[in-house]
Amino acid sequence: MSPIPTTTPKFINPRAKFNFQGRTCSIAGVGSYVPARVLTNAELEKSVNTSNEWIVSRTGIKERRIAAKDEFTSDMAAHAARRAMEMARVTPEQIDLIIVASITPDMPFPSTACLVQQKIGAHRSAAFDLEAACAGFIYALEVGQQFIMSRTYDTVMVIGAEKLSTIVDWQDRNTCVLFGDGAGAAILQNRPNSHGLLTAVMGADGRKSDLIFMAGGGSRCPATADSIAGRRHYLKMEGKETFKSAVQAMQTAAQEALRRCQIDISRIKCIIPHQANRRIIDAVGERLGAKPEQIFINLHKYGNTSAASVAIALDEAVHSGRVQAGDLLLLVVFGAGLTWGAAVIEW
Ligand code: ACO
Repeated sequence: MSPIPTTTPKFINPRAKFNFQGRTCSIAGVGSYVPARVLTNAELEKSVNTSNEWIVSRTGIKERRIAAKDEFTSDMAAHAARRAMEMARVTPEQIDLIIVASITPDMPFPSTACLVQQKIGAHRSAAFDLEAACAGFIYALEVGQQFIMSRTYDTVMVIGAEKLSTIVDWQDRNTCVLFGDGAGAAILQNRPNSHGLLTAVMGADGRKSDLIFMAGGGSRCPATADSIAGRRHYLKMEGKETFKSAVQAMQTAAQEALRRCQIDISRIKCIIPHQANRRIIDAVGERLGAKPEQIFINLHKYGNTSAASVAIALDEAVHSGRVQAGDLLLLVVFGAGLTWGAAVIEW
């Protein structure tokens, strides 16, 4: 009698317990865009009481990109979307749904997703925005994935895009050194030869909604002369508490995602964390037991671009050759809300 072959699976696909009949959700293409204008720490030294030494040692950020006056979130999103479509070899007519994650939409309504739809000519698609601050891209991936797995749609465009320079208080040294503008996009499709997005963890804690917020511009505090004079249309952040919550939430989310796939951190080829602060990334990496060479970092060039952050990093990791077919990736994010998330992807 021949022995029964025993092969250890590379990982567990947590979705296998549902009857998707071989359906998977893979990232067929990625793209990103950052504005041309570079704002260096040396320039910020001239406008607020800060120093390049402080910014680099406390955050790791050296420069960030700032969109032009007439360059909006939807423009950056559309550039990134076109690049992702090119890589995925997808035409605008093929796109069934566009989801844009952003805290800096062009305007409260219509959605930025509708404006992107018009700009890329994807006139057949549905379109909506999703708001989960810096965690928005993973939230959007998980939402988009549902439509692919349920066979509702074949091609979903997921975008993280921000023009944070419009909500940053350029007189507040506590926050203005941290943020930048940009966009990243991914095309989701069923790819029978890949497991694709294996799992995505999403979390939130509204009890800590006062750690990062912008009070003005919504129904609670519409724009008035007083609200503008009170600088309530700018982002406010309690940095220290945010830092602690970020490290804890990112560690927990990442561990939960790995547990679901029954893999150890050493199996991950590339960890792509939210690019907010080098010290947060180092602390999370250490708690996860990751090696520095596993972690992708580009925050020195762009700062924190919120929902665009991991989307831009994913694009750069793929196009720089850091990620090859079959590699396992771990994306992990954290943002206002509070919100957080982690995703494991077989590339
Ligand atoms: N230049 C010089 N000094 C500064 C600057 C600056 N740009 N900013 C703050 N300081 C000063 C402070 O005033 C303080 O001075 P004091 O001791 O005299 O009061 C001192 O530096 C230390 O300030 P801390 O707040 O203790 O600095 P910390 O080490 O915590 O770093 C930082 C601050 C970088 C903001 C950090 O807390 C952080 O990164 N927090 C997390 C941010 C984050 O992850 N956000 C993600 C979500 S964002 C979103 O969802 C949109």
